[in-house]
Amino acid sequence: MEYKIAVAAGDGIGPEIVEQAISVLERIGEKFGHKFTYENVAVGGAAIDCCGDPLPEESLEVCKRSDAVLLGAVGGPKWDSLENAKRPEKGLLRLRQSLGLYANIRPAVLYKELADACPLKESIIKDGIDICVVRELMGGIYFGERGQRQGKYGAEAFDEECYSEYEVERIARSAFEMARKRRNKVTSVDKANVLESSRLWRRVVEKVAAEFPDIELEHMYVDNASMQLIKNPSGFDVLLTTNMFGDILSDEASMITGSIGMLPSASLGTEGVHMYEPIHGSAPDIAGTRKANPIATILSCAMMLRSSFNLSDEAQAIEKAVEGVLEKGLRTPDIMSQGMTLVDTVQMGEEIAKLI
Ligand code: NAD
Ligand code: IPM
Ligand code: MN
Repeated sequence: MEYKIAVAAGDGIGPEIVEQAISVLERIGEKFGHKFTYENVAVGGAAIDCCGDPLPEESLEVCKRSDAVLLGAVGGPKWDSLENAKRPEKGLLRLRQSLGLYANIRPAVLYKELADACPLKESIIKDGIDICVVRELMGGIYFGERGQRQGKYGAEAFDEECYSEYEVERIARSAFEMARKRRNKVTSVDKANVLESSRLWRRVVEKVAAEFPDIELEHMYVDNASMQLIKNPSGFDVLLTTNMFGDILSDEASMITGSIGMLPSASLGTEGVHMYEPIHGSAPDIAGTRKANPIATILSCAMMLRSSFNLSDEAQAIEKAVEGVLEKGLRTPDIMSQGMTLVDTVQMGEEIAKLI
């Protein structure tokens, strides 16, 4: 089979980590007899520089014609002063919206080899950490009304958080279905003690829960959830939440599993073309230094193989190889600890490919 992948490497460390992910995919192709083809598309700052638009029409067309999209990361200080519509991040948001990607699946797993990189005490992580954040990706404050106006005290700006029943229902269903494949528990995180949109969220989640009597549902306020993630991370199985809360809580979840450089994601949608992206950003502070951890992007490719191409053995081969390099003690700087062997971005990618 031939699989067409649109590759949006993006900015900062984006191209460095994507290069390693592609060499891992190439190794999979070689070993299992698949052909992957790659078409580079400009998205983010790179697209602003080349084409004056963070998501040129041509990039979107190529993504829509592909079997899956692999994204590195977008953004950086160079473009930070541009107006909202012209920012790199807006290109990513438009891409998610245009592909109908409403469900962002962000698994946060603590590998036993990385216990030293986890900042939590051993007594807290003794039962392990294996959380799947199911983040709504096409609604909420990211896509609400926003603007600037003159108020009583001068200039004001506002961003609206709005959720429809339809949007909550479909993401809730994704979460309950995910829980069935895992440990049968959903924690829905909201701020229903304050926000009207959260009260609707909670009501719709309860309604969907009735279709899944085998799944335990727990509601939790977001402030408490951010605390419980540190206090008792093994209490979470599927964490269902809004676009904004999911963005924040998944960065927190990444740190308790060692590093943001480890966490992959799948952005699944309605149009059949899904996107795979590490949860981290373009890390301008380490771009060009070969310090970036490529594992989040490599594991995102494993998610692509499983979810878009139905190639579970191949996905597992990548996951096993990642475990293998960790067992061998190889560490990029973000997950380095005493007695381990420090490697750079390229060496980490090569070692993972070698173990496949
Ligand atoms: P970031 O995730 O880029 O970096 C946060 C910290 O984590 C930095 O210290 C960075 O060095 C480190 N880090 C991130 N990825 C790493 C990796 N793979 N290996 C090792 N260390 C890693 O977040 P930020 O600094 O807040 O944002 C930088 C830029 O990235 C901004 O322009 C932001 O908008 C953008 N961003 C893009 C995405 C995306 O494209 N999906 C996600 C988040 C942030
Ligand atoms: C992420 C990022 C994006 C988000 C930004 C860059 C738009 O932080 O993928 O987590 O907030 O969704
Ligand atoms: Mn984020």
